[in-house]
Amino acid sequence: MAHLLILIWPLLITTCFSLQLPSNVVEFSKIKHHSKKRDNSIAFLVVGDWGRDGNFNQSRVATQMGFIGKKLGIDFVISSGDNFYDNGLKDVHDPAFQTSFTNIYTAKSLQKPWYAVLGNHDYQGNAVAQLSPALKKIDNRWNCKRNFIVGAGSADIFFVDTTPFVNKYFDNPKKQKFDWRNVLPREGYLSSILKSLDSALKKSKAAWKIVVGHHTIRSIGYHGDTQEIEAHILPILEAHNVDMYINGHDHCLQHLSNERGSMQFLTSGGGSKAWKNIIHYGVHKDTMHFYHDGQGFISVKVTRNKAEIAFYDVFGRNVHHQKLEKRRSKKLITSED
Ligand SMILES: *[C@@H]1O[C@H](CO)[C@@H](O)[C@H](O)[C@H]1NC(C)=O
Repeated sequence: MAHLLILIWPLLITTCFSLQLPSNVVEFSKIKHHSKKRDNSIAFLVVGDWGRDGNFNQSRVATQMGFIGKKLGIDFVISSGDNFYDNGLKDVHDPAFQTSFTNIYTAKSLQKPWYAVLGNHDYQGNAVAQLSPALKKIDNRWNCKRNFIVGAGSADIFFVDTTPFVNKYFDNPKKQKFDWRNVLPREGYLSSILKSLDSALKKSKAAWKIVVGHHTIRSIGYHGDTQEIEAHILPILEAHNVDMYINGHDHCLQHLSNERGSMQFLTSGGGSKAWKNIIHYGVHKDTMHFYHDGQGFISVKVTRNKAEIAFYDVFGRNVHHQKLEKRRSKKLITSED
């Protein structure tokens, strides 16, 4: 009996480990950015829903991002997903990576790390290729992961893979095909994200907590609120006093605040095709601050006590501005210019 145990012992260990750690277990690994500025500030741009070979004003938005990026001396760029239309990348050699990214965002100020999440259109191509480190050899700026954290100055930015939360992509995909490799079994993946996000937010000591996902939580745009994200992710963000949730998905710019607490909802989905002209003005009227049904992007600058959010249209005009301030009492003060 003892002999038998010794023999099967390694087998037991391997089995336990493979049961505990399926391939889709989520860990929020952290990338660190130290401020290079005297006031310890960090600045970044956010653009979403963009990769169309420069078409639909993608190039014009890119040009203006270059100007604003230079003016603010940005540290990095965030992509809120739907990076390559219509169906993500085919493989790591897909020319779209260059024709929609490298050859478009050419300004010097944009030659910084890009931190990207996947959107639903990215999942309709080869999602694994878009996450591949092989792309960094073609363009060193590219950092796309499913779930990760960027620690930047006084902010921790949590990137969350929201697409697998949306039921219709599984229940009623119509003609769309999704690359669910490393996501299935779905239940395990989703609960792993929620658990890891909850503990990562709890552990964070950053003055500002910012969460980025592709899908909306609050939106009066074409897609509107995303019920699954509202049901599963919003309570975690509220419990940990997250300051901003930033998303794409609706092809517009918008700013809403939360009806409870002080979280701000920012949509930056104006990287290329926009002007959907379907806006649900009746919804969230009391918490709605700004809506732009066209192309553009946003900038965020954070110091220990202050954050400044600005929205820019296709001409690079600052069309909306929001300042947030944290007093010693931790109470958040907001003011609009
Ligand atoms: C691009 O921007 C210009 C200027 O606002 C606008 O006239 C044009 O309709 C836009 N094109 C698209 C495809 O959105």
